[in-house]
Amino acid sequence: MAHLWSGRFAGDPDADLFAFGSSFRFDRRLFEDDVRGSLAWAAGLARAGVLAPADAAAIEAGLREILDKGLSDPSFVTDTHGDEDIHAFVERELVARIGDAGRRLHTGRSRNEQVAVDLRLYLKRRVPAIQREIAAATGGLVQLAERAGDALMPSYTHLRRAQPVLVAHFLLSHVAALRRDVDRLSAVLAEADELPLGSGAIAGTSYAIDVRGLATALGFGRIARNSMDVSGDRDFVASFLHAASLGMVHLSRIAEDFILFTSEEFGYFDLADSAATGSSLMPQKKNPDPLELVRGKSGRVIGHLAGWLVTMKGLPAGYNKDLQEDKEALFDAEDTWVGCLRAASSVVSGLRPNPAVTARAASGLLLATDVADYLVAKGLPFRDAHEVVGALVRRLLSEGRTFDDLSLEEWEQHSPLFGEDVRSAITPLASIEKKQTPQSTAPKAVAAALAETKKWLKAQGL
Ligand code: ARG
Repeated sequence: MAHLWSGRFAGDPDADLFAFGSSFRFDRRLFEDDVRGSLAWAAGLARAGVLAPADAAAIEAGLREILDKGLSDPSFVTDTHGDEDIHAFVERELVARIGDAGRRLHTGRSRNEQVAVDLRLYLKRRVPAIQREIAAATGGLVQLAERAGDALMPSYTHLRRAQPVLVAHFLLSHVAALRRDVDRLSAVLAEADELPLGSGAIAGTSYAIDVRGLATALGFGRIARNSMDVSGDRDFVASFLHAASLGMVHLSRIAEDFILFTSEEFGYFDLADSAATGSSLMPQKKNPDPLELVRGKSGRVIGHLAGWLVTMKGLPAGYNKDLQEDKEALFDAEDTWVGCLRAASSVVSGLRPNPAVTARAASGLLLATDVADYLVAKGLPFRDAHEVVGALVRRLLSEGRTFDDLSLEEWEQHSPLFGEDVRSAITPLASIEKKQTPQSTAPKAVAAALAETKKWLKAQGL
């Protein structure tokens, strides 16, 4: 069979090596981007007077027919002709439809810039969809926060009880991280928003193509700065993989929290039966497999980022075939990320908070900071208050008691500043109500944060 470059060679390439280098089985995913890029290129050639109007019209009609066919029937874009890549597929289909005019389409253009355009166009259409998936997952956490109402739980530092917080505050902490993922993707979009066409294989093109007009036609905000740079530039792929890696790190941490908090040891939330699996041996088990998989798959996406950086680092200037490796990394990172977002959302939507259990865990010695603040309010320097309360905690621990068991006399043994009001001041609810800052777990602050998040969700179209 003839390839896009057969003329130079006396014989056919080794069949196994050709298959080894072919990318059709994964870059067919760029089908619609490739056709749209070619439509714009043909129009650019026509405007530059390189293509006769009749040829340009035939190319446009042929490409539109191919696009419609591929969009309505994805099985059309299959490997029945041994095409090397999606670019070869589209060109062969075009020539099959319109004959010689189709053979003029590639004038002044190379696959190096073509694949770079395709991948950038692909991200421009896929990133907003991924952002919607993240927003949907965020929506699930928000609904759970609303179901949790005014339930309290302990917060942890070093995985040791720290201070009481609203369960909603804990859930909104994960929402904050997911919102950063949406913003990070917007930055990736801005980076990818550059038109490579006009760069030729590396040195630019000898035809007077209006690349600015092409950029506008394809929805790009700017044109490439340098033809050599852009043909070998896949920084935007690394940035996408970084965004995906951090996104997966966030999902992994969410998964880890719910694996812990749905365990017998914590019991803060119950996992829906539909989001768990059993053991083939131990009849009592209810395992959080989907959450474990979300946590586990983060390693694979981070691996794509690390692998891609290594692939790029030794390349000489310009296009090198190594760059073809970008697509499998990117597509798998995307699929894994979206799959994990959906799995995490599904698990979260079935979680039931156990307010009695979380409230019980949110009382006791984790109110020590509030006791110190009580003394500070009575005029004691914080360092001294810390000492006093430390000693009190030491005593309570040795006696196996907590603050609520103390009589006024016992409080006073530790400081004359303690008065009758200490009993009402030292409760989990008083602790959160005393918080003053907008980012705190104060009920008013959390209600405002919830309202602001819902507004944000609406702005994301949810
Ligand atoms: N399949 C190639 C890739 O993904 C397309 C560009 C091919 N260019 C070339 N000079 N062989 O990078």
